[in-house]
Amino acid sequence: MAQKTFYITTALYYSNSSLHIGHAYEVVAADAMARYKRLRGYDVKFLTGMDEHGQKIEQAAAAAGITPQQQVDGVASATKALFGTLNIDYDIFWCTTCLPHSTAVKKIFNQLYEQGDIYKGAYKGLYCTPCETFYTKSQLEEGNCPVCKRKVEEVDEEAYFFRLSKYQDRLIEHIEKNPTFIMPASRAQEMLNNFLRPGLTDLCVSRTSFKWGIPLDFDPNHVSYVWVDALSNYAVALGFMGDDDSEYKKYWPADVHIVGKDIVRFHTIIWPALLMALDQPLPKQVFGHGWLHVDGVKIGKSLGNSIDPAELVEQFGIDAIRYFLLKEVAFGQDGNYTPEILISRINSDLANDLGNMLSRTVGMIDKYFGGKLPANHAPTDFDEELKTAAAEAASGANHHFDRMEFDQALGKIWAMIGRANKYIDQVEPWKLTKEADKQDILAGSLWMLAECLRIAAILIEPVMPDTPAKIYQQLNIATHTDWDDAATFGLLPKEVQITKGDAMFPRIDTKNLRT
Ligand code: MSP
Repeated sequence: MAQKTFYITTALYYSNSSLHIGHAYEVVAADAMARYKRLRGYDVKFLTGMDEHGQKIEQAAAAAGITPQQQVDGVASATKALFGTLNIDYDIFWCTTCLPHSTAVKKIFNQLYEQGDIYKGAYKGLYCTPCETFYTKSQLEEGNCPVCKRKVEEVDEEAYFFRLSKYQDRLIEHIEKNPTFIMPASRAQEMLNNFLRPGLTDLCVSRTSFKWGIPLDFDPNHVSYVWVDALSNYAVALGFMGDDDSEYKKYWPADVHIVGKDIVRFHTIIWPALLMALDQPLPKQVFGHGWLHVDGVKIGKSLGNSIDPAELVEQFGIDAIRYFLLKEVAFGQDGNYTPEILISRINSDLANDLGNMLSRTVGMIDKYFGGKLPANHAPTDFDEELKTAAAEAASGANHHFDRMEFDQALGKIWAMIGRANKYIDQVEPWKLTKEADKQDILAGSLWMLAECLRIAAILIEPVMPDTPAKIYQQLNIATHTDWDDAATFGLLPKEVQITKGDAMFPRIDTKNLRT
């Protein structure tokens, strides 16, 4: 049977300065999902990249005295470095200033123009340059952009329009017939009630007041509206409208576009309408995650509360940060970051629960058996309950990762870890070691703990890719393990030979923190 494909994307990023922890949150979630699907045996294509056109970039480059291309190249290489730090295992890092992209976007415009889906008109209205979004007066909040709260500009220019309104009924029908097309479901209702049912107007898709964009073949004074250019990347990066579209044929339609709630509208109205006009299949799902806040306020450089993810990684380690991001926030809802919440998560879940379970288990095998368990094991009264928790961790992880419920998947895994720590307190190995006739029970109980650690190591890999190797090393397990091995209890050899290592997640003492 042919291997099943899974095509997942993040949004394309752009920030005139460096990316912040809100961006990191999105790309880490997508990376965890891509890793999970690879572990489940899928042929995964994971795309991320940079959205590199638009007026705000032109303005920033002018202010810095460099060309817009120099400006975006600098941001792209900083972003790639950050994604390395975040352990993002992407397959494609797409930049919208690359030649294959602009060539394909021009072809898309040509086709839509030739078939009458794009026509010439004039745009008079309001525009938010930082968000590259057109607004009507009624959409503003206290006269400002409803998303970034900054001033909007009056725009009056000749422009081309895409017949978005023509696709309104088909879009409504598609969303109604496909309840998982927009997730979480509440966002589908928002799109239907706030935008689609009140009626769509045609979309202005070209600009003449600046140059930093893709010029249209049929009227080179106009550059593409940045959203049409950017959204096209999901198909163009696979070869759509290019010389070789074999990857497009293989991976399209996308299984999921992961985007923040602020840009769900572009992905569930404009993008599918463009695809309908191009007679292409629609993505299977657009998942609109929530925003990460700092003390209740959306993170953003412009809001002055940006947190540098690379600095957090340097201070706390990458897997701790990835764990925090995906455990703390229910994917789809907003979440809050404060250093206190981060540290308390690391100390309780990673240092106390997982870290202690490993160091206690390895420490006891070392102390009571000189580092190697004997082959003879006898059960305790608490084994069955722990086995049940292990089975629930494995099935729960599958169930919740499949639905991108990262916090719940981790919750099931940590329920097993919690159960294992309780098991130590119930079995009291320090008492068994003093009784000569209880050595088989002691060996069996320590093996049970090591076996749960083996299972935990497999299941945490999508979220914490560096940690499993550290567990395998201390338990002397080959690092290559199959995901499905988590569901079978008892695969660990009886005579576990340990290698004591450093504490995986040392407790953080807030007194030693950098401010
Ligand atoms: N360039 C557009 C997307 C084009 S997609 C074809 C854009 N870029 S962005 O850099 O501003 O945002 C990229 C992604 O990061 C978006 O999905 C956005 O929602 C997400 N986030 C930006 N700030 C965020 C938080 N504070 N929290 C969570 N996600 C956030 O939009």
